[in-house]
Formats: sequence, C-alpha cells, structure tokens
Amino acid sequence: MQVTIDGPAGVGKTSVGRQVAKGFSLLFIQSGQLYRAMAYAHREGLPDESIELAVGDQGGTYLTIDGVDAEAKLTSEEIGDLASQMAQDQEVRDRVNGVIVDLARDRDVLVEGRDIGTVVLPNADLKVFLTASPRERAIRRHKQLGGERTVEEIEEEIAHRDDRDKNREIAPLKPAVDAVIIDTTSLAENEVVKEISDLIRERIDSG
Ligand code: C5P
Repeated sequence: MQVTIDGPAGVGKTSVGRQVAKGFSLLFIQSGQLYRAMAYAHREGLPDESIELAVGDQGGTYLTIDGVDAEAKLTSEEIGDLASQMAQDQEVRDRVNGVIVDLARDRDVLVEGRDIGTVVLPNADLKVFLTASPRERAIRRHKQLGGERTVEEIEEEIAHRDDRDKNREIAPLKPAVDAVIIDTTSLAENEVVKEISDLIRERIDSG
C-alpha cells in the first residue's frame, strides 16, 4: 500500500500523515525533512553525504546529520524557505527522490510532500491533496512554532514559499489528476485523519 499526501505549508500533512500511517502500520516519510536537511547541511557547509534517513525501531524514520539527530534543527521557517529555494534544483530533487523511492520499494508507506503523487510515486494506491485557507494555515503554523512572530507575519512567509513552490518549473506543487482533494479549513485534525483512513479502507476493501 502506497499513500501520498501533498499540499502547501501548514496544512497539516505531517500531523495527520503521522497518525494515519500509525493506524495502518505504514512507514511515514516526510519528504520536506529531506529538503530541509539539504538546506541545513548546505548552510553549515556539510556535504550531502552527512544526511542519513534510516528506518527506526518504531516503524518511523530517523533523520541524522553528521550522526546527530537533526529534527529539532529543521523546524524554523528560515530553513523552510532555504529548502524551498534549493528544491528548485533538479539535482537536489533527484537526490531526495532517490532516497524516497528506495525506502518505498517493497514497503507499505505514507509519504507526504509537494510532488509525491505527481512525480515521486505516480502509481500510489491513494493520493490525497490537502488544502486550507492561508489564514488557517498560518494559525496552525503559529501554534506549532510558538515564538514571537505574529500570525500575519507567518501568513506572509508561507504565502511567499507556497508561491515559489507552485510556480517553479520542476515538480511544482499541484494535485495529481487522480488525487482526492480535501479542504481542511474547517475540519478538526481527527476529522481529516478519519476521512483519509476511510479512503484507505475503501482501497483495501476493493483489493
Ligand atoms: O514540507 P516542508 O514545509 O517541510 O517542506 C519544505 C520545503 O521543501 C517546501 O517549501 C518545498 O519547497 C520543498 N519540498 C518540495 N517537495 C516535496 C517536499 C518539500 O519541493 N516533496
């Protein structure tokens, strides 16, 4: 079973994806973390080879840079923006896609990102595209990041990043033609988890 969840920044791909993956014992892969890791390594002058994404004991993935757990270093919008700049480069995309395709081979996976349903796993069993209003996404990111920046500032930053992601020439952010589009603006997280879980069950039942 291969499930993809694509969508813009702050839409809830990670929190929803993690829960859905757990419910169906799918390996959860955050492709954005790999772009963020490439951005971080680039900024710190570290080689791409210092990045490693391994399958952990609990069925999730485990990202290290230079042998050290990297998750906490990658959450800022600054790294997100640098990742989005680097993600315009085909060589960078090829590296990330190679890691994902290798992990997804012969495994049941849920992969989230921007181009997973359109480019990376075009034959996935279920493709979901999540949307939400820019204001709602900024509110969610604000809750997640904490910090001093206002919802308005965050809204502006993610709008800028989404614009770049949507309008780039290679693998732009867009729904696959066969994606199920879910507008999550007025849905609670558990409602989105349920909707996607129901879709997976339908796919399983129909063989
Ligand atoms: O999902 P996240 O916000 O962590 O992604 C950071 C950036 O990485 C995105 O803004 C996007 O430019 C890039 N990205 C991408 N393709 C993906 C996942 C992320 O281009 N599949």
